[in-house]
Amino acid sequence: MKITVLPGDGVGVEVTREAVKVLSAVSETLGLEMEFTQHLIGGAAIHATDSPLPEETQKSCCESDAVLLGAVGAPEFDHLLPEQRPEIGLLKLRQLLGGFANLRPSKAFDALIDSSPLRKEVFEGTNMLIVRELLGGLYFGQPREISETEAFNTMRYSVSEVERVARVAFESAKLRKKKVTSVDKANVLETSRLWRETVEKVAKSYPEIELEHLFVDACAMHLVTNPTRFDVILTENLFGDILSDEAAVLTGSLGMLASATIGGKIDLYEPVHGSAPDIAGKNIANPLGAIASGAMLLRYTAKNEAAAEAIEKAINKVLAEGLRTIDISNDKENFAKTDEIGDLVAKYAVEFANTKSNSQTV
Ligand code: IPM
Ligand code: MN
Repeated sequence: MKITVLPGDGVGVEVTREAVKVLSAVSETLGLEMEFTQHLIGGAAIHATDSPLPEETQKSCCESDAVLLGAVGAPEFDHLLPEQRPEIGLLKLRQLLGGFANLRPSKAFDALIDSSPLRKEVFEGTNMLIVRELLGGLYFGQPREISETEAFNTMRYSVSEVERVARVAFESAKLRKKKVTSVDKANVLETSRLWRETVEKVAKSYPEIELEHLFVDACAMHLVTNPTRFDVILTENLFGDILSDEAAVLTGSLGMLASATIGGKIDLYEPVHGSAPDIAGKNIANPLGAIASGAMLLRYTAKNEAAAEAIEKAINKVLAEGLRTIDISNDKENFAKTDEIGDLVAKYAVEFANTKSNSQTV
């Protein structure tokens, strides 16, 4: 497998290093061939080439089986218009690769139950998957314009765009608790009316799946009052962006969560967190979201469930043993460094992978 690694900006550099470390260790143990090629994106790419998504990066991504991304964005670009900022590199990359379904799982980690901002009784047992539409809505709708006195963006969805992402949500629910919560703002927005009607139609092909609709404001509220009610949340691009940060931080830290973008030509894997410039370059960022994104790559692109599980078990073991980065550490004086966590997850993941492959050959 060919994997293009795009560390990007800020902590993206540190966390992808650990993800590659873990992926290399596991794939070597299991005899999977993985070749990593690193390229520039975002602010780092603007510095080197004046473009947030250079040609070379695009070419490498298009020739790969999957792309593993860190994060993009830096405060030095804050004064620029959206089209000149590092983030546009990521949005163009998403369009180029074509993945329209962004899967963001969020669940309670036993070892971190006390790190959640929610009470244990409320949060325990939470296990949801946000399916965020990634190529439509306000992020890409035309026209988009700004003048001295006005600015506007366009929220646009077509039936086929809603259908294809809805199918991913229902298919995912089949393998889970068989419930889809479709989130919209159908009391105000036409795009949401279309969304809701289309989801209803898709649901007819999945009689075994329970479907409910929630308005996005109510969903934001339920996430903090009753998160265990959710299984699969299906929603449009911007709502999904907002709700997934909320869902992620419930687990104890935004640094924990992974994502996979599927359905297009080439799959894209990235942690849910951003470039966190305030802690960048200090070797203190939490690499677990990036490492777990690597596990998702093994699951969805490499179709190697055993390898994915080896990494996920290793993450749980490291957390259970108490080695933690500052964001989830109870002790803010003594905490693990980014690379220490990566080393230990790699070590345990190799052990789990070995146990698995031995038991399969017996
Ligand atoms: C995310 C990020 C991106 C998004 C930004 C960096 C463009 O917040 O992946 O959630 O809004 O999609
Ligand atoms: Mn976001």
